[in-house]
Amino acid sequence: MAETQPAVVSEEKFIIHNLVKREPRAGLAADVRRGLDSQPKRFLPKYFYDQLGSQLFEAICLLPEYYLTRAENEILERYADEIVASVDGETTLLEMGSGSASKTRLIIEALLRKQAELLFIPVDISASALDSSSRILLQSYPQIRVEAYAADYFAGLAELEKTERGRTLALFLGSNISNFDPEEALRFLRALRQVLHQGDALLLGADLKKDKRVLEAAYNDALGVTAAFNLNVLARINRELGGNFDLRAFQHHAFYSEAAGRVEIYIESLRAQTVEITGLGISVDFAAGEQIHTENSYKYDLGNLAELAANTGFTRARTWLDHGEQFSSSLLLAV
Ligand code: AVJ
Repeated sequence: MAETQPAVVSEEKFIIHNLVKREPRAGLAADVRRGLDSQPKRFLPKYFYDQLGSQLFEAICLLPEYYLTRAENEILERYADEIVASVDGETTLLEMGSGSASKTRLIIEALLRKQAELLFIPVDISASALDSSSRILLQSYPQIRVEAYAADYFAGLAELEKTERGRTLALFLGSNISNFDPEEALRFLRALRQVLHQGDALLLGADLKKDKRVLEAAYNDALGVTAAFNLNVLARINRELGGNFDLRAFQHHAFYSEAAGRVEIYIESLRAQTVEITGLGISVDFAAGEQIHTENSYKYDLGNLAELAANTGFTRARTWLDHGEQFSSSLLLAV
């Protein structure tokens, strides 16, 4: 007989290790100081994702121009059973950068068609996103347990290396790999490979190289959500570090460099100005037109992906595409 679900999630089924909380402001403060002292000025993309930034990113995923999320969803909806069939035995699901974990549900459901119970291990930089997404998953699936890590990727992987797991399917979805430059992508996949065993698998979502106009529209949406997402880093510095950035005196700038195979994203100063950041005890000069680099979004082709796998202890076993062939999901097997 079916029992009614309890309204509150049992804490035994949910553990969250908060590695970010240990020094919440130190990382941001030190990195902002260093980034504004660099030439050219730069911020790290992980600082987009405070509570507001994470929600703005969720909104980006709903934009008509931002095809990535819909294309990946289409692939997972269609092929989740095939994907999970590529790993044998009772499987633990590990996800790097899970965010709201909405696409994860498709994989969880496919795994629960093969096995009775599931341990889900999400790693994400946003503790608030992890907490809410984990609780929602636990409410939906009584068969799962969640052991979450609020951490940046490398810190999360270092922590995971200390523990043993059985057969594991790792997910790195949403083209989150896009933020890594080529050397970092190698370093990341090697670190991930370290926490896996031979025969474990990684499902890697990667946005594909394509027409410049399509890519530039995706990062310059008409509604201005991507601009808000980008400028929120300045608002965050105002909120958390006592800055006085005038958000109206800066603008979002994004373009595709075919030569580099990446969309480059900047915040541009509309005029010469000086900004005070009292929490850091600094004032920062901007020239008119001066840019702060905030993000690269690297695009891949299937050759790039096979090469990346081969250089990091994996082999690209299979790749699935959406019908528009805009996005790729590759199953990389640990060799
Ligand atoms: C989360 C890194 C995949 O590069 O498309 C979206 C971030 N930045 N719009 C991407 C992003 C601006 C996104 N990733």
